[in-house]
Amino acid sequence: MIKTALSHPNKALVIYWGNEDDPLRIPTRSSLSITLQGINHPLDYIVTLRTMQSADRDRVFIDGTEDRGEIRTQFVRHLDIMRVYTGFKEKVEVITRKTFPVGSGLAGSAASASSMAEAFAGLIGKTADRKLVSIMARRGSGSASRSVFGGSVVWQKGNSDDSSYAKQLFDENHWDIRNVIALVSSDPKKLRSIDGMALSKKTCPELLYTAFASVSSDHIEEASSAMAARDIGKLGALYEKENDLFRQVCLKTTPRLDYWAKATHDIFDKVAYLRNDSIPAYAGTDAGPNVHIFTLPRHVERVTRVVGEVEGVLEIIHCRVGEGSHLIQQHLA
Ligand code: PMV
Repeated sequence: MIKTALSHPNKALVIYWGNEDDPLRIPTRSSLSITLQGINHPLDYIVTLRTMQSADRDRVFIDGTEDRGEIRTQFVRHLDIMRVYTGFKEKVEVITRKTFPVGSGLAGSAASASSMAEAFAGLIGKTADRKLVSIMARRGSGSASRSVFGGSVVWQKGNSDDSSYAKQLFDENHWDIRNVIALVSSDPKKLRSIDGMALSKKTCPELLYTAFASVSSDHIEEASSAMAARDIGKLGALYEKENDLFRQVCLKTTPRLDYWAKATHDIFDKVAYLRNDSIPAYAGTDAGPNVHIFTLPRHVERVTRVVGEVEGVLEIIHCRVGEGSHLIQQHLA
């Protein structure tokens, strides 16, 4: 049997950063994101899973090359977890192809793990069970639980394996909001998010971390009502407030997690300048130096021009609100 899935990254407006249970990836706070589909540069992660009769080990091919090391181990770990959920026993060949840099703060892990979960659900005939797909994606990478859905998505933290999964808030046609990504680096991260967030939880001053964890429900409510009203000013202000809080948590972590490059600071200055000029543009980052700017379609050109002038910007990727992970018919060979 063979199944192929395609998935996209997502950008959190209310951020996931820290787990109550690390192996299960049950987070310390709920989060909210928008799924991103590239317009001038596809942001696709495709996974083909092919069952292998009587094989005794899984094989993993990343962008055309077989991996026998750490990456294979991560994929096999995720497969084994999904086997436990579903009783599926066969060994598989995993073939992946991506069209964007993974490990650079573009949430490649979200696209990759959700694509894996979707393809695996395809093998067992369970793609209609979106809760199961989201839970299986979460076990690969927390933020992947959200890429299972298109549009805007809330991951309710829950308090157990079965109660921690994402749901769609509004679909991709609700509001044409854009995300302009200023790519500052496409180098892999030095520290994986899962390790960075564990450090924050352990070392960040307790008052700050508790406030960060507990404010997420209010922030999700604010973001949801701004989206319902299609109010970019309200959504943007909330996005920047969350981003500031996330940055404070990172900077108060020991050792200090400063993910920003000089260009990141310069882009934030440019975005503030654009806003002074009445352009609704709002900046935030993930655990990396790249900047995600939310704006409206009619301002994309100006935002791209101004931000593109910053020294150190390698590429501008223009995204619209994307679809969730889904099966496709074109299998990877
Ligand atoms: O899903 P992970 O373990 O790669 O963590 C992603 C965390 C952030 O991207 C920084 C925030 C988020 O909510 O997506």
